Amino acid sequence: MTLKEEIENRRTFAIISHPDAGKTTLTEKFLLFGGAIQVAGAVKSNKIKKSATSDFMDIERQRGISVATSVMAFHHNGKLVNLLDTPGHKDFAEDTYRTLTAVDSVVLVIDCVKGVEAQTERLMEVCRMRDTPVIIFINKMDLEGRDAFELLDELEEKLSIKVRPMSWPIGIGRTFKGVYKLYDKSINLFNADKQRIQKDIVTIDDINSPELEKCIGEFADELRSEVELIEGVYDEFNQEAYASGQLAPVFFGSAVNNFGIQELLDKFVEIAPDPEGREADVRLVEPEEPKFTGFVFKIHANIDPRHRDRIAFVRVVSGTFERNKFYTHTRLGKQLKFPNPATFMASAKNIVEEAFPGDVIGLYDTGNFKIGDTLTEGEKLQFKGIPSFSPEIFKELVNKDPMKSKQLEKGIRQLTEEGVAQLFYMQSGGRKIVGTVGELQFEVIQHRLENEYSAKCEFVPKNYFKACWITTTNQSKLDEFKRLKGMDIVKDKDDNDVYLAPSQFMLDMERQNYPDIEFHLTSEFKVARKV
Ligand code: G4P
Repeated sequence: MTLKEEIENRRTFAIISHPDAGKTTLTEKFLLFGGAIQVAGAVKSNKIKKSATSDFMDIERQRGISVATSVMAFHHNGKLVNLLDTPGHKDFAEDTYRTLTAVDSVVLVIDCVKGVEAQTERLMEVCRMRDTPVIIFINKMDLEGRDAFELLDELEEKLSIKVRPMSWPIGIGRTFKGVYKLYDKSINLFNADKQRIQKDIVTIDDINSPELEKCIGEFADELRSEVELIEGVYDEFNQEAYASGQLAPVFFGSAVNNFGIQELLDKFVEIAPDPEGREADVRLVEPEEPKFTGFVFKIHANIDPRHRDRIAFVRVVSGTFERNKFYTHTRLGKQLKFPNPATFMASAKNIVEEAFPGDVIGLYDTGNFKIGDTLTEGEKLQFKGIPSFSPEIFKELVNKDPMKSKQLEKGIRQLTEEGVAQLFYMQSGGRKIVGTVGELQFEVIQHRLENEYSAKCEFVPKNYFKACWITTTNQSKLDEFKRLKGMDIVKDKDDNDVYLAPSQFMLDMERQNYPDIEFHLTSEFKVARKV
C-alpha cells in the first residue's frame, strides 16, 4: 500500500463521557463488533471502580491495564480503527485531555437519563480547542430517560455545537421499541440481548405506509410526526460541518444491550476523518509528507519498579516510522533509535516494524521524553497543542527525609514529566507546589516516590482555586502585579509565569484591577474558559 492509502485506511479516535454514561461498555462493544475481543467483560473488568471505593491498589492495577489497553486496534468495513483509551476516573481527567490531542475525532457518550453532565462540558471544551469532529451516542435508551428533543436542545445549548439526529428512538425505557434510521429509512428493532449482535432490521420504504403499524404498532403515528418535525427543524447532515467540528451527528441506543452499535460504528468509519496533520511551531505538518514526524502525548512508568524505564506513546503525524532507524529528538537535539517499538492490544504487546500517520506506538524510554516532545527525521520543529490545564487541587511538597532530597527532586520531576501532576516552583527557596485534578494523584505520587525513588514526602494543602497563566502587552503592569502578588506567583515547568488565584472572587477582582493582564486557564491560549 502507498502512504496515501495507509492514511486513508485509518481512523484514530477516542470515546469520551462523563463517568458512568457508558464509555467502557461502548468501548467493549466496539471491540466485540470489530472482532478484537471475543467475550464481553474483557475491558470492563479492568476498570477502576467508582470513586468512593477506588484505592491505591486500583490505581496500580489501572497503570498496568491502561498500558495494555492504551491503543485498541481493530478492523471494520475495510478500515483500521485505532481506539485510544482514556481513563474513566475523573481524577485522571488531564490524561484524557492530552489523549484528545492525539486523536482525529471522538465519540461522545451521553446518558439519556442525565443528559449533559459536568465532565461532558469540559471534554467538549477540549475538543473545541482543535475543532475535533464529534459523534454523539445517547445511551441507555432502555431506561426511562428524558425526551429526545429536549436532550438535543440541551446538547446544542450546553455544548455549543449544532446537532443532527441520524437515528431516532421509538418509545423509551419500558416502551423502547428500537430506532428509526433517518439516513436509510430502516427500523432497527430493539431486542434486549446482551450477547447477540443485533440483526432485527426492517426497511420501511415509505414511512406513511401501513407497514410501519405492523412493525411498531401504536408508535407509528408518533414516529411519523416526530420525523416530520426533525426534517423541518434540523439541517441535513453535512460532512464538512461535521469534519470542522461544527455539527455533531447523534445516534440513540443501548450499549449494554448491544443496541445501536452497528449503525454507529458503520457510520463512524464512513464519515470520521482520515488522520490529520498537526500544527508545529514553524509550520503545519501534513500526514502525506514522506518524512516521519510524531509527538509524545502520554508517558507511562514501567509497572515493575526495579526497572526505571518508561513507555512514551507517540502519535505518528507524517511519513512512515521504521524500527531501528535514527530519529531526531528535537528538544534535546539528540539522535535516537528504537529497537522495540510496540503496539499494545488488550494485554498482547507486539513489536511493530513500521507505523503510519494515525498510529500510536509505544517507545521504551530511559528518561529522554517529556509530554509534547517531537521526533523528526532531522527537521527542527516542535508540535504544538499539548496544553496544561489548570489543576483543581494544590498542595505544597515537603521533604520528609533531608538525606534524600536529590532523590525527591528527581522523582517529582520525572513523575510530573509523565503528567501525573503539575509542578509549580515558588519564587522563594525552591519551594514546590503540586497541582492535580483529583486527590488520588497525591496518593500515587507519595507511594511512587517512596517505592521508586526511596524519597519520603508530605503534602500540605494550599488554599488555591485555579492556576492562571498570565500574559500581557504591558510589561510594566505585569511586573507590578508580580511584585505585589509575590507569594502567589509561581513558574511552571517551562518557566512561564503563573498566578495561583486563591478564589473566584480574587480572580475576578484581579481581572478588573489589571485589564492589561490576561489570565488564562490553560497553558496554550486558544480557549477562554469561563470560571
Ligand atoms: P463509564 O465507563 O462511562 O464510567 O460507564 P460504564 O460503561 O462502566 O457504564 C456505567 C454503568 O452503566 C454500568 O453499570 C453499565 O452496565 C451501565 N450501562 C451501560 N450501558 C447501558 C445501557 O445501555 N443501559 C443500561 N441500563 N445500563 C447501561 P454498573 O452497574 O455500574 O456496572 P455493571 O455492574 O453493570 O458492570
